[in-house]
This record gives sequence, C-alpha cells and structure tokens, in this order.
Amino acid sequence: MISMKKVQKHFGDLHVLKDVDLEVPTGQVVVVLGPSGSGKSTLCRTINRLEPIDEGEIWIDGQILPSEGKALAALRADVGMVFQSFNLFAHKTILQNVTLAPIKVRGKSKADAEKRGMELLERVGIASQRDKYPAQLSGGQQQRVAIARSLAMEPKVMLFDVPTSALDPEMVNEVLDVMVSLAKEGMTMLVVTHEMGFARKAADRVIFMADGAIVEDDDPETFFTQPKSERARDFLGKILGH
Ligand SMILES: Nc1ncnc2c1ncn2[C@@H]1O[C@H](COP(=O)(O)OP(=O)(O)O)[C@@H](O)[C@H]1O
Ligand SMILES: [Mg+2]
Repeated sequence: MISMKKVQKHFGDLHVLKDVDLEVPTGQVVVVLGPSGSGKSTLCRTINRLEPIDEGEIWIDGQILPSEGKALAALRADVGMVFQSFNLFAHKTILQNVTLAPIKVRGKSKADAEKRGMELLERVGIASQRDKYPAQLSGGQQQRVAIARSLAMEPKVMLFDVPTSALDPEMVNEVLDVMVSLAKEGMTMLVVTHEMGFARKAADRVIFMADGAIVEDDDPETFFTQPKSERARDFLGKILGH
C-alpha cells in the first residue's frame, strides 16, 4: 500500500531522510519510533507530499506520488493524516468539519456527507457534539473529531504524527482506543507515537529511526525485548526507564 524506495530528503545541508526504503502492505500497522529530530515527522509528511523528496520514489496503492495538480489532490484524499495539533476548522461546527472535504473534494451531496459524517462521529463517540465548535470540546474530543474527519474521505492509508502528545493524560486513552479499533478493522496505518502500550498492542511492526535512517524494522516483541542496535537500546532505556 505504501512503498518508499531509496528516498532522500534534505533541508539545506541537513540530510533528514537517508536512503529510506519502506514497504507497508495493506492492513499493516507500523509504529515509528525514534529520538527527537530523527526524521519521523518528515517521513510522514513526504508520504502525502506535504514535503517533496529530493530523490527516490514513493508509491501509494500502486500509484507513484504525483507532484501537483488534481492528481496530487486525489492522492492526498487517499492518505489521511492526523497531527499532534488537531487542526480543526475553528469557525466550523464539528459536523461541518467532518463533511466539508467530502463535499468539496469527493463531490458528495450534503445529505450523504452528513449521513456518513454522523456515522463516523458516532463511531468515535462524539455524535452528541455535532453542533458545537472545536473550542467547546476537550483536546481528546477534538482529536477524535480530527480522526473522523480524515476517515470521512475514505482514505486508503492513515498517518498519525504523535496524535496524543498534546493531550492531558486522562484523554490519551480515548484517542488510542479509536486508533486500536481502526487497526483491528484492517486500516493501513503509520503511527509516530511515544505510547509504548499502543505499539505493543496494535503494531504489526516497529520501525526505529535515528539520524534520518531506518535503523531497525522488526515485530514489536523482538524490538522491545531484543533491540539490535546501540541507538535503539539507548532510546528504550531512556523512555522505559521510569
Ligand atoms: N521545514 C524544515 N526546515 C528545516 N529543517 C527542518 C524542517 N523540518 C524538520 N527539520 C529538521 O529535520 C530534522 C528531522 O525533523 P523531524 O522530521 O521533525 O524529526 P522528528 O519528527 O523525528 O522529531 C530535524 O533536525 C529538524 O530540525
Ligand atoms: Mg516529529
């Protein structure tokens, strides 16, 4: 579903993605771990071309990433992305947040978009908030709306970049629960997270990045119990040390 081949990305002199090769089959859940600055966000952002790459190729569902125009818009619609900051439209209601893109980009009727939007809000446990504005919701609720909004586009792939990092601790699980259920339903997911419980529970595979390269690529059990590299051992020691 996602295929990255020898991807290189620089920011000026900084080489942020070094020869990245990554194949994610349909339905797989990949958790991306790594220290701050290792290139995790950049990796996500290249997959829906929020960042262009310098060399290499990225394919989504058998199609090479287009660089612009309608083809790019269509591809972006297939790749949902949820960020640390919820990025909801502040002046739109919760339901409008979820129906806007399906109407504008997918060409759905308002009635169809609202029907599907309500199903998705139901699914993330937030249907009763449909007429409120984002600022009236808690962070956990807003992030669940952001997930519903992405799902409303019927994406083939969902990318999550530290989706629970901006949340108060008591709200983390309500968002992770939605992600776990998506994973169980077979969504192809790439998830940058510091939530090791989620990685152990939901990941089919863990990728560890350091200095822009994929250093380890293993099943979660193997990664957490027998990390191969010094970098990964050091990282795990720091995050699991408390
Ligand atoms: N738009 C940008 N311009 C310049 N440097 C950037 C930009 N975005 C990220 N970087 C740099 O690229 C490296 C990787 O960043 P990032 O992908 O955000 O890492 P991570 O998400 O793993 O913390 C860091 O050194 C960061 O400072
Ligand atoms: Mg990041």
